[in-house]
Amino acid sequence: MKKIVLTGAAGRLGSYLREPLTKLADALVSSDLIDDIGTLYPGESYQRADLTKYNEIRSLLEGADMVVHFGAYGDEAPFDTILGPNIIGAYNVWEAAYQNGVRRVVYASSIHAVGMHSKMEFIGTDAPHRPDAFYGLAKCFAEDLASLYWDKRQIEAVCLRILSCAQVTSARALGSWLSYDDLIHLVERAISTPTTGFSVVYGVSNNDRVPVDNAKASFLGYRPKDNAEQFAAKILAEEPAQDLSDPAHLKQGGPFAAVPIGESGLANMNIIDDTKRS
Ligand SMILES: NC(=O)c1ccc[n+]([C@@H]2O[C@H](COP(=O)([O-])OP(=O)(O)OC[C@H]3O[C@@H](n4cnc5c(N)ncnc54)[C@H](O)[C@@H]3O)[C@@H](O)[C@H]2O)c1
Repeated sequence: MKKIVLTGAAGRLGSYLREPLTKLADALVSSDLIDDIGTLYPGESYQRADLTKYNEIRSLLEGADMVVHFGAYGDEAPFDTILGPNIIGAYNVWEAAYQNGVRRVVYASSIHAVGMHSKMEFIGTDAPHRPDAFYGLAKCFAEDLASLYWDKRQIEAVCLRILSCAQVTSARALGSWLSYDDLIHLVERAISTPTTGFSVVYGVSNNDRVPVDNAKASFLGYRPKDNAEQFAAKILAEEPAQDLSDPAHLKQGGPFAAVPIGESGLANMNIIDDTKRS
């Protein structure tokens, strides 16, 4: 492969993907809003581009074989905050992919596209959309856009419905954790699988308490290795018993399912910022 583009490269997840992605193509072009991303890895270059500006994304994707699209506003917020980066931004990525002949979009979707399903349902990748926030609704839009561009324009897409890729700091994360190593493996499989068409896969580690079913995505060869059970004794000793009448515990979306529309879900999640420095 000649060129992969990574959006959201300055973000927490992007920071773990940059180096491994340089191994999968002759050139990795990392992109985000900031002017300078710091020290580059061998094979990497950086191009600033705003997802809300079509011309910038069109020029970013020129000559690319694939785009790994991780740039977004990463929390629930009023609709106007989500609209630009997450909805118009998704359209700009898929349309620019089409105009530039890009073969595949690997997309950071989210459990919040289906966040109002109960954890008891053990939903598969074919569960209907059931967003828990404007943030999740934008992920539904992008997944449907991916489906449309596959059906009508033959742009392949792998939608990674990530559950929670962050250090395990809550009982929910014992089921929802995606380790950084498993994230890297998942993105590698999404890129390297020869044919994907339009597909959906849950981004979650090999946790004993995993609340979703990836059986229908097994063709991707995603075989996660990490298991959050190693943290269970400590976490469960700290966290009081969970009230299953509380949507934050019962629903797939956790705290996002419990907050009013437009209000931050991350504020209730104790996410540790361990962004990797290059
Ligand atoms: N962290 C998780 O557990 C998790 C779970 C589900 C989905 N996701 C998705 O994964 C992706 C990365 O998440 P993260 O945790 O690294 O978030 P993050 O906020 O750390 O990174 C997102 C990056 O997108 C960039 N961005 C925002 N608006 C932009 C714009 N208009 N133009 C260009 N870049 C812009 C930001 O500058 C930031 O660097 C996001 O799409 C997020 O929705 C993350």
